[in-house]
Amino acid sequence: MSDTLLQVSGLTAAIEEGELLHGIDLTIRPGETHVLMGPNGAGKSTLGHTLMGNPVYRLTGGSIVFDGEDITELSADKRAQRGMFLSFQNPLEVPGLSMEAFLRSALRQKTGKPIKLFAFKKELEETMALLNMDPSYADRDLNVGFSGGEKKKAEILQLLMLNPRLAILDETDSGLDVDAVRTVSAGIEAYQKKRDGALLIITHSTKILEALHVDYTHILVKGKIVHTGDASLVEEINRNGFERFMPE
Ligand SMILES: Nc1ncnc2c1ncn2[C@@H]1O[C@H](COP(=O)(O)OP(=O)(O)O)[C@@H](O)[C@H]1O
Ligand SMILES: [Mg+2]
Repeated sequence: MSDTLLQVSGLTAAIEEGELLHGIDLTIRPGETHVLMGPNGAGKSTLGHTLMGNPVYRLTGGSIVFDGEDITELSADKRAQRGMFLSFQNPLEVPGLSMEAFLRSALRQKTGKPIKLFAFKKELEETMALLNMDPSYADRDLNVGFSGGEKKKAEILQLLMLNPRLAILDETDSGLDVDAVRTVSAGIEAYQKKRDGALLIITHSTKILEALHVDYTHILVKGKIVHTGDASLVEEINRNGFERFMPE
């Protein structure tokens, strides 16, 4: 295994209307937790989607290397197979596909092997219990009629069941009540501990981070990482805002 899991160099990405990311450099090693903060519209979600290979964002420069392999040109599903995971800020509703069937198919795609049903069911049950999810949700259509909090929990359930090598969590905590934040945070902590899981957490909240070990905090402003610090930066931003990082 390479000692650098993700190496992003000079990454620029654009849509029809213009460039959104202006030269992103980011290095994540196995097991590290990075927090990405920044004002609304800074490009945080864009960065998450671009790393995951969403074709909406056209790469215009730079490279993405994952575990020693240049994945800059790889499709999103191939990146998922390699062990990358993105939880969405606004999870999709999928009528006609139960949460359990979805997880089984995602796992099969990721591993390329048939699922061992008994072990799968047991792990699903245990993981749902950890996340305080009613077992009946396994049979419900994915995210259909789920509350905001339930959708976020479903994302963390996917995280724990798929056990990726790098997880990008896009505001998984926004709009959650205190209990749900605690549950989601416990789920992320379980992922951190499960193996050398690396994280890029996009968030505005310190609550979700309380129980988590954070290695680096990055501030993204107008499509650029303008500052990188340690865990204490999260507190500082919450006290003082992004003012001192904004361009003149
Ligand atoms: N698919 C898209 N089409 C048009 N504009 C987009 C698209 N994706 C992002 N943007 C614009 O790019 C900027 C960054 O968006 P986003 O990455 O969602 O910001 P953040 O997640 O930091 O709040 C915003 O001005 C947003 O409107
Ligand atoms: Mg966003």
